[in-house]
Amino acid sequence: MIIVLLGYMGSGKSTLGKELATALKYSFLDLDDYISDKETASVGEIFKTKGEIYFRKKETAYLKDIIGTSENIVLALGGGTPCYSNNMELLINNSKVVSFYLKLSIPLLVDRLFTEKEKRPLISHMASKEDLTEFIGKHLFERSQYYSLAHHVINTDHKLQSEILEELQSQLI
Ligand code: S3P
Repeated sequence: MIIVLLGYMGSGKSTLGKELATALKYSFLDLDDYISDKETASVGEIFKTKGEIYFRKKETAYLKDIIGTSENIVLALGGGTPCYSNNMELLINNSKVVSFYLKLSIPLLVDRLFTEKEKRPLISHMASKEDLTEFIGKHLFERSQYYSLAHHVINTDHKLQSEILEELQSQLI
């Protein structure tokens, strides 16, 4: 089985994914890290030197590679992965894949992302929390239609990591 965690930047996909993989004794993969390893460059460097379109092409190609394996994997996607090419269709039509949208409200995303924006090329230039709030509001509005196609939606606002993990696992039984 391949358990896919998706959602906006800062929604906890990688942190929760690692924990879930440990609990289930699955391997853990972070798509951004996988791309960085294969391309021997950070996501920020790829955006800067080769551009976003190149990154999106590679993102789809590596996603296909990963979901083609027969291993048990927890896979954390990048925030934009579900919204490009036919990535969501690939995930929905693969019977090995179970997907979860980790949903977090805009104010909580802003709080988390404002302090960690430097490593994220799409928001690194945001000067104030107000600018970031406006950006995320619009961006999430566009992206929600893709995220909502996930098999399960988990509301994570004000929940402990342990509670979210329990919820994820209870949906897998
Ligand atoms: C992106 C999210 C990032 C990374 C890239 C683009 C996006 O991943 O893939 O910077 O389009 O939302 P995280 O969600 O892990 O930050």
